[in-house]
Amino acid sequence: MQNHTKLHDIGVIGLGVMGKNLALNIADNQYSVAAFDLDSDKVQGVVQQEKSDRITSKQTQVPLRINGCNNLSEMLSSLEKPRILVLSVPAGAPVDGVCKALIDAGIESDDIVIDTGNSLWTDTVEREARYSKQFIFFSCAVSGGEMGARFGPSLMPSGDIKAWDRIKPIWEAIAAKVDAETGLPIERQEPGNPVTEGEPCTTYIGPAGSGHYVKMVHNGIEYADMQLICEAYQLLSDGFAMTTTEIADLFNKWNQGSLNSYLMEISAEVLRQADPISGKPLVSMILDKAGQKGTGLWTAVSSLQIGCPAPTIAEAVYARAISTQKDQRFKLSQLLKGPEAAKPTAEERDSFIAQLENALYCAKIACYAQGFQLMAMAAKDKGWNLDFAEIAKIWRAGCIIRARFLQSITQAYQAAAIDGIELDNLLMADAFCIALSEKQLDWRKAVSAAVMKGIPVPCISSALAYYDSYRCETLPASLLQGQRDFFGAHTFERTDKPAGEKYHLNWSHADRDLIKV
Ligand code: 6PG
Repeated sequence: MQNHTKLHDIGVIGLGVMGKNLALNIADNQYSVAAFDLDSDKVQGVVQQEKSDRITSKQTQVPLRINGCNNLSEMLSSLEKPRILVLSVPAGAPVDGVCKALIDAGIESDDIVIDTGNSLWTDTVEREARYSKQFIFFSCAVSGGEMGARFGPSLMPSGDIKAWDRIKPIWEAIAAKVDAETGLPIERQEPGNPVTEGEPCTTYIGPAGSGHYVKMVHNGIEYADMQLICEAYQLLSDGFAMTTTEIADLFNKWNQGSLNSYLMEISAEVLRQADPISGKPLVSMILDKAGQKGTGLWTAVSSLQIGCPAPTIAEAVYARAISTQKDQRFKLSQLLKGPEAAKPTAEERDSFIAQLENALYCAKIACYAQGFQLMAMAAKDKGWNLDFAEIAKIWRAGCIIRARFLQSITQAYQAAAIDGIELDNLLMADAFCIALSEKQLDWRKAVSAAVMKGIPVPCISSALAYYDSYRCETLPASLLQGQRDFFGAHTFERTDKPAGEKYHLNWSHADRDLIKV
């Protein structure tokens, strides 16, 4: 470990993939960093990485800015006061473990601790209250994975606004950047040469927990977006006999148009990859059991609790769950009958590809509509004042769901604000309304083809059901209310009477009289 001759600007605790890369990113942006991890090899690792980055970037004369610390007390005494400490440890108990250790090491009440993990937002709310006497617990959700953390993530900070004033310059420096006019990411992945121009992908989200809530919904959308692409892949390969290379080429083509996204880009790359062992497409050798760490599930649970329809996000979580049931799927694949599939002609394939492109775009609009609607309903519920144009803006670069499409969402919220309208649902935005009306028939054709071929498309089809449900002025919930009243006297409202007035029909009496409750 090095001697600390000068006090450092910021401390980073936890030097796993994300912490290490955040530390290097902060240092590249001219801030000095005190770095600590319980594993001293990781401390040495980040210090060494900075040195080798200097050699790669031919900047050996530039002073090193990361200093490794042996323990938390040493870290605290090496930091400028009031201190700013970044926690990059797994969500859950480890966050509280480090907070307690910091209290023991002498952290002070005006020091700020920023939790950058994928914490459950309610834990964040509790922590801010729990530690308020010992230090300022602040949270900042981070999206973008390893490369994002290193060269520009999307950052969703929330908590004490005065703490944000102190953190903001560092956060704006390290965040991903977007060209203000085009809304496209400005990307440069060069150590020692960070992107300093453009709009930073960070904005103050709101009070404690709101940043983690917004990130949770980001991940829910991420789950749905990933599953949509996977469904397209299965349709093209199983339904239309396309090879992985052909699908990779098609995804690359789609990535040039309205379906442009980081997830589409990496999907093409994954499909193109050969397995180093067998030489077959790697995707054919990867076991089809999806993992998950919980953020998509939390989004679905929150949508159910709030009563906000987010079926495509929930279906994406279920799709991962059913993927893990490999044994049952194997047994049932031998038992259950599906349709006899006729071999498609080249013409049929080409027209299906065009329909699928439109279907994916429509489903994507529906799943973003669900995510933004969920945030809007949560904000009302919790008294947060979320700025959706700003949230869409900071997702245009750095994060996993970054896509050209986010610029259209930004513009939709900006246009609504100019017109003084509250955009309750993105389906109502002019641009999306027009696109959906134009493309909905292809969406239906793609879902029909999937159904007739027996290929599961839970997200593409649930998104269509969401769209159609919102198109229905009248839903069969009238019958449902009748059923509830029949067996449980649960009452119903009438179409011809004021809202809130409750009625019950005396179903068990011969005369079936109507009672105003
Ligand atoms: C991001 C990612 C990141 C991580 C998720 C996904 O925005 O950078 O969402 O947070 O990849 O935790 O995790 P699972 O797919 O394992 O749930």
